[in-house]
Amino acid sequence: MRKKIVAGNWKMNKTVGEAVALVEGLKLELANVVGVEAVVCPPFTALKTVSDLIADTEIKLGSQNMSSEDDGAYTGEVSHGMLKELFVKYVILGHSERREYYKETDYWINKKVKKALEKNLRPIVCVGEKLEDREAGKTEAVVEAQVRGSLADITAEQFEDVVVAYEPVWAIGTGKTATAEQAQDVHKFIRGIIADMVGQEAADGLRIQYGGSMKPANAAELMSQPDIDGGLIGGAALDAASFAGIVNAGM
Ligand code: PGA
Repeated sequence: MRKKIVAGNWKMNKTVGEAVALVEGLKLELANVVGVEAVVCPPFTALKTVSDLIADTEIKLGSQNMSSEDDGAYTGEVSHGMLKELFVKYVILGHSERREYYKETDYWINKKVKKALEKNLRPIVCVGEKLEDREAGKTEAVVEAQVRGSLADITAEQFEDVVVAYEPVWAIGTGKTATAEQAQDVHKFIRGIIADMVGQEAADGLRIQYGGSMKPANAAELMSQPDIDGGLIGGAALDAASFAGIVNAGM
């Protein structure tokens, strides 16, 4: 049985002061959650503060990116060691905004995924097609290339620590959610690719989140699909009650 995982990707939102207010709200809202893993991914600048605030809770900490390198002359980058010191457990890698605006490719995402796994951090690896891909009937081809590229050379055993997030780019921040059926189809397709790459057992154990305008109102239907194991939440993660509403929908 796969445990559902709902992660809040705060993106470039929340100063330290604002992060404190949000986390105080989340601690109250999520106090009685069982059976669902809740993760918050603040910007780097708020990680330390949020880490301290959630230390006595079940809420886990994630970052929104990580360097593929250990240390050294990489201006603006943040390493696995810096994250682990703050008790970060998850790292979002290959988000579509990083692919689009910062030209991150599957090659680099794969390097980061390998580094994260080697250092016992759990990558949340994002894949998803753009609107033009979907309209051209290329959804499966695009998603398959991203899955095979960003997860190349990962062993079946390592897959136990991997989470994949399927996020159709046309649904991110647009209010347009994929229907439960559209999402389920792609999730099932992704699980099939993983089975082909590393075997059925690892594929069956892999948690695949849906992301793209997930809200309390649509979360239960999405997460009731057989291959949807949680959500990666942007906009709705910036408000304690709405994030908690989504986490509760996974229970
Ligand atoms: P959204 O973002 O929930 O605001 O659509 C999801 C994401 O980008 O992870």
